[in-house]
Amino acid sequence: MTTAPNAEQRARWNGPSGTAWTEYAEHFERGYADYDAAYLAAVDARAEDLVLDVGSGPGALALRIATTARRVVGVDVSAPLVDLARRRAQAAGRDNAIFVAADAQVDPPDEGPFDVVVSHFGSMFFDDSVAAFTSLCRALRPGGRLVLLTWQGPERNPWQVEVLRALHPDQEAPIPPTDGPSPFGLSDAARVRSVLGAAGFVDVELEDLRAPHWSGADPDDAVRFTVTHNAAVLDGYDEAARRRALDRLRALFEAHHTRDGVLFDSATWLVRARRP
Ligand SMILES: C[S@@+](CC[C@H](N)C(=O)[O-])C[C@H]1O[C@@H](n2cnc3c(N)ncnc32)[C@H](O)[C@@H]1O
Repeated sequence: MTTAPNAEQRARWNGPSGTAWTEYAEHFERGYADYDAAYLAAVDARAEDLVLDVGSGPGALALRIATTARRVVGVDVSAPLVDLARRRAQAAGRDNAIFVAADAQVDPPDEGPFDVVVSHFGSMFFDDSVAAFTSLCRALRPGGRLVLLTWQGPERNPWQVEVLRALHPDQEAPIPPTDGPSPFGLSDAARVRSVLGAAGFVDVELEDLRAPHWSGADPDDAVRFTVTHNAAVLDGYDEAARRRALDRLRALFEAHHTRDGVLFDSATWLVRARRP
């Protein structure tokens, strides 16, 4: 039996991750907010631009792009996140932003050609990245631009890795892979260049961005947030193991508590490319 593309990610984003992101959208958004200005400047959406946002999630960045673009189409595989983005668009009166539930790898929206394809942490989860970016390149007009924000590797993103280590004190932490669907799936610069080149893009440039990652207002907030969206891990522990994991989490967040909240180092790639 063959499995449909992205079956695991579809299940995840329509299941536990979709629920966590719907419930905690603002927390996630505040976490990476220090990258917003650089990302939006690179997108540089103009009044004539039709923009495709891949993996648009709760839609906050798509809605900000829609304040200057002609029209923004968000595509996301997660039905609950598409619903949330639509509700937010309606509440903001942004009728030039629409959100479509579809898999961008196999079924990108066909209302292009698009002037700009963007993705804010939404393009690292494809089973077949070359196939996905080939479709996205074809969705652009000739000369159209691609702008991506992706995480660099685990060693530069302790906000994620140290939390995983704290959650798994008695075994090796399951750090997401850098060569498959995962938050770190486009963290390797050589892989980004090779995938985008094979998909038909030219002028691929990666800019190294660093910013603090906000993980909560204080250690209590950070623990609450982490526990909620890692419930499956903690529910698998007996009482003693659960207590050890929670103690390590609290100690970690205490060590990163500042006047501006719980802050960790983080690093991203701002990727720019072009369809020839
Ligand atoms: C880390 S979230 C980022 C969401 C949003 N762009 C943001 O930054 O707030 C990743 C998003 O990519 C979406 N996604 C994953 N695989 C996808 C695919 N094959 N097609 C479309 N969306 C996908 C997920 O459903 C999720 O909403």
